[in-house]
Amino acid sequence: MVVVANRLPFDLEVQPDGSTKARQAPGGLVTALEPILSRRHGAWIGWPGTPDVTLDPTTADGLTLHPLTLSSDEIDQYYEGFSNATLWPLYHDAVADSEYHRVWWDSYRKVNERFARRAAEVAAPGATVWVHDYQLQLVPEMLRKLRPDVRIGFFLHIPFPPSELFSRLPWRKQIMRGLLGSDLIGFQLPGGSRNFVRLARTLLGLATSGGSVEYEGRTVRVGAFPISIDSGGQSSLAATPEVHEAAKQLRSDLGNPSKIILGVDRLDYTKGIDIRLRAFGELLAEGDPAARDAVMIQVATPSRERLQSYITMREGIERQVGAMNGDFGRIGHPAVHYLHQSFPREQLAAFYVAADVMAVTPLRDGMNLVAKEYVACRVDGGGVLLLSEFTGAAQELRSSLLVNPYDTDGVKEGLRTALTMPAVEARRRMRILRRQVLTHDVDRWAADFLSNLEGVRDRVAEAR
Ligand code: UDP
Ligand code: G6P
Repeated sequence: MVVVANRLPFDLEVQPDGSTKARQAPGGLVTALEPILSRRHGAWIGWPGTPDVTLDPTTADGLTLHPLTLSSDEIDQYYEGFSNATLWPLYHDAVADSEYHRVWWDSYRKVNERFARRAAEVAAPGATVWVHDYQLQLVPEMLRKLRPDVRIGFFLHIPFPPSELFSRLPWRKQIMRGLLGSDLIGFQLPGGSRNFVRLARTLLGLATSGGSVEYEGRTVRVGAFPISIDSGGQSSLAATPEVHEAAKQLRSDLGNPSKIILGVDRLDYTKGIDIRLRAFGELLAEGDPAARDAVMIQVATPSRERLQSYITMREGIERQVGAMNGDFGRIGHPAVHYLHQSFPREQLAAFYVAADVMAVTPLRDGMNLVAKEYVACRVDGGGVLLLSEFTGAAQELRSSLLVNPYDTDGVKEGLRTALTMPAVEARRRMRILRRQVLTHDVDRWAADFLSNLEGVRDRVAEAR
């Protein structure tokens, strides 16, 4: 199997002595796919994380990595431009404004063509090629032209927007046709799948049924495949004495507060970090007793740091944290511990184990794996998950405390309820959440997607 994604699972940095150092790449796509692909000894085509770096194929963790060089101009126009300043905000409910530039689109098309060519070179005859995410929506069509023998699956990790938003794209038809080069197109939720099928009918005038689109003499299958995590691996990690000890140490380093509230996100405007800070700040300002005895840890991993929307977001959050610590902190006891850093999974597991309340409040999120990781790590059966209704995870994790992130009073009330929830009720909810996360893991997700993909091609072969 060949995976094609914008990023490799590791950022490869060239050291002064010419050797390369690998660090896990950011984001949920990599967390989910890396264990799947390394178990299958597959190939992965992607960008190694630094512009203008050319590297030979290499192996790591049972995977063959095929680094694809992106120039500084391509990073400006294809990655930061079209992918992250046009598509990302538009697909996330337009929570920030999208920019539309023809030079960005040209670059997006050209880079997609380069990924498709590389996939055509790497894939063995009859191989399965699995293309991922919004950065590479034109690859399926381009690859099909080059290699009609391969099976092509596409999975979108972020939301697929309703037609009113998608239709703003000047290149909407090209993107639809790009995706329709696949044999199977997967979305996180049934809503995304329905949006796509409706657009195929209304925008391209194609014949559709609930889960398929007729396109150029082929039937393209479309469906929802909610992604997940390596739940067993995450639970086992959380159960190790090292993680247990680190969690205990963390609590003691914080001065053994009565409650720890945790947020873990890429520093992204879709994640609603400002919303949970505001809710906690207002509870503190009102002298809420549960909030007064609590402390918040916010991990905000650096992300897309050259984009203005991200710079502005970071400035706002850092101002908010500074004001809250100025108003409500004491010497040696800030109200919010803000960490603009990226942590390895062992350290994150210790945060999850130590946290009494996990606050996940995005305005929109395709899935949100952090929410599932928190649940998987609660091997002790405790902890409360406060979860935005507008995450994909909310469709599955119904026993969390669901909140509308646009409603500050509602988030405040959710936080207060989480902080004061009786242990018996918290355990009852966590039991249900754990059952869901442990039985719906990333292996099941991949097996489900890939067996559907095989099914499509087998039916095509029979029809011939
Ligand atoms: N993550 C990490 N280190 C950090 C912060 C986050 O490894 O310091 C991981 C986290 O464990 C999760 C992923 O990054 O697996 C984030 O995935 P999610 O779906 O929550 O959000 P995304 O960043 O993909 O939008
Ligand atoms: C989300 C996207 C991924 C992306 C990740 C990190 O999870 O769905 O495609 O890789 O964020 O973002 P970055 O721009 O750093 O790759």
